[in-house]
Amino acid sequence: MLRIVVCVSGGGTNLQAIIDGIADGRIADTQIVGVISNNAGAFALERAKLNGIDAACISPRDYEDRASFHRALLERVNEYAPDLIVLAGFLVTIPPEMIRAYPNRIINIHPSLIPSFCGVGYYGLKVHEAALKRGVKVTGATVHFVDEGTDTGPILLQKSVKVHEDDTPKTLQRRVMEEAEWVILPQAIDRIARKERF
Ligand code: GAR
Repeated sequence: MLRIVVCVSGGGTNLQAIIDGIADGRIADTQIVGVISNNAGAFALERAKLNGIDAACISPRDYEDRASFHRALLERVNEYAPDLIVLAGFLVTIPPEMIRAYPNRIINIHPSLIPSFCGVGYYGLKVHEAALKRGVKVTGATVHFVDEGTDTGPILLQKSVKVHEDDTPKTLQRRVMEEAEWVILPQAIDRIARKERF
């Protein structure tokens, strides 16, 4: 059984895709042992509770400095003893200590085709705003391992999505989620659980 911890910051639709994937068998042999949010108001925490999953909020606001927040985050993750950490819309920089403690065991979903529209400052809606501003005809999503850079780790899966002429950042974000993120994130976890190659 693959034990996963899912880290979230907001709505948690990717968390929901993982919960649904486990329930309907698209993700084999996997258990979500905990959900961690940096934001107490995240709807993702509700989704965890509704599904009987242990959930915690570790917010930087509750710690006097970044180092103490990082320590608390890593301690909480370690308590769950996960095989894999899934960043599902977790908009916090992962502490280097955590990356060193879990080499090639942290994956992230990013809402573009890396190396386009990624790196520092590219997250959430900003990614889609930048894609529309540049006028790309195709965008998508990427699942990658997390290393010490921002969106620089080895790529596991990508899926492309067409941009429509009348897209707004919000309509594009929604289509990238539906057609790409909610598909490839469960797929990547399933392949890791099955110990398949990418
Ligand atoms: C998703 O679009 C995810 O790809 C993005 O945040 C959103 C979270 O939505 N992540 C990043 O931009 C990371 N750089 P969700 O809370 O509904 O899953």
